[in-house]
Amino acid sequence: MAINDAVKQMEQELITRTNKAEFFRLADGSLLKKYLPNQNPVEKLLQDHRSLRFLEDKLGELVHEGWVYRTVRLLDIKVDQRTMRLEFVPGDVLSNVCKSKMKEAEFRCGIWLALYHNKVLGGLPQGLIYWDFNVHNVIVDFERRTVVAIDPGMSWGRTGYAYQDLVRHMHSALVTLVVKRKSSFTALVSFLKGYAVATQTAPHLWSYYKGLRREIRRQFYQYSRKSYAKLVAYPFVLAMTFPFYFGFVPGYLWLKAIQRS
Ligand SMILES: Nc1ncnc2c1ncn2[C@@H]1O[C@H](COP(=O)(O)OP(=O)(O)O)[C@@H](O)[C@H]1O
Ligand SMILES: [Mg+2]
Repeated sequence: MAINDAVKQMEQELITRTNKAEFFRLADGSLLKKYLPNQNPVEKLLQDHRSLRFLEDKLGELVHEGWVYRTVRLLDIKVDQRTMRLEFVPGDVLSNVCKSKMKEAEFRCGIWLALYHNKVLGGLPQGLIYWDFNVHNVIVDFERRTVVAIDPGMSWGRTGYAYQDLVRHMHSALVTLVVKRKSSFTALVSFLKGYAVATQTAPHLWSYYKGLRREIRRQFYQYSRKSYAKLVAYPFVLAMTFPFYFGFVPGYLWLKAIQRS
């Protein structure tokens, strides 16, 4: 092995891997995201790059009640190597936050999403939504009072209803955190409360149900792609969560809007 390769290897420490990419911590403290070759890597790399640039320009650093809300900073990109260098964000991915802090973390995530919708959708119920605000894609740092979203799922020219982002986040929290007993129903309500505190979008029932329908359809495709067992389990998941999505969430948001006005 050439000396250069050995040095390069020492400089890179694999910290995690997903089905889309591998993540290395570099000697300078930054993070290298290397897209795996089996999944249209260049297309995904360019799409993520464009989304992150857009978000950095559009959102910058938003400050709300002493906390900072922003997206991860992009340092550079090398298309031929399928890599993107990002700042390393300290803190805990929401799915790893300890149970005692989950309620506050979810509250802050609700604020993050509301600020995003305020800025990018300008108070409208429909537009360029975030798409993938799930519990693995947001890092909360209690020490620095910062919430950073790391992985937007937006794809250009594809718009949706703001409430899809809401339902998608809560569904990922329900499946990943409540089922694993890391989170609770009150933490989910706390997420809604954070959203209600910061949103400038007036409640729009029709958009809510249209967004919910789209999200349920997406969940169905997602479950059916994973395995036959998941496809069979889906109607049960839906039956259990439906009252929450159908009645509780819109009721809560409307109540909070009435209280505010
Ligand atoms: N900038 C970052 N700082 C710290 N950890 C990160 C950063 N980006 C990604 N991660 C870690 O890698 C995981 C997967 O990152 P993500 O960008 O969501 O990958 P994918 O695009 O495959 O979904 C995250 O849940 C987090 O643990
Ligand atoms: Mg992700």
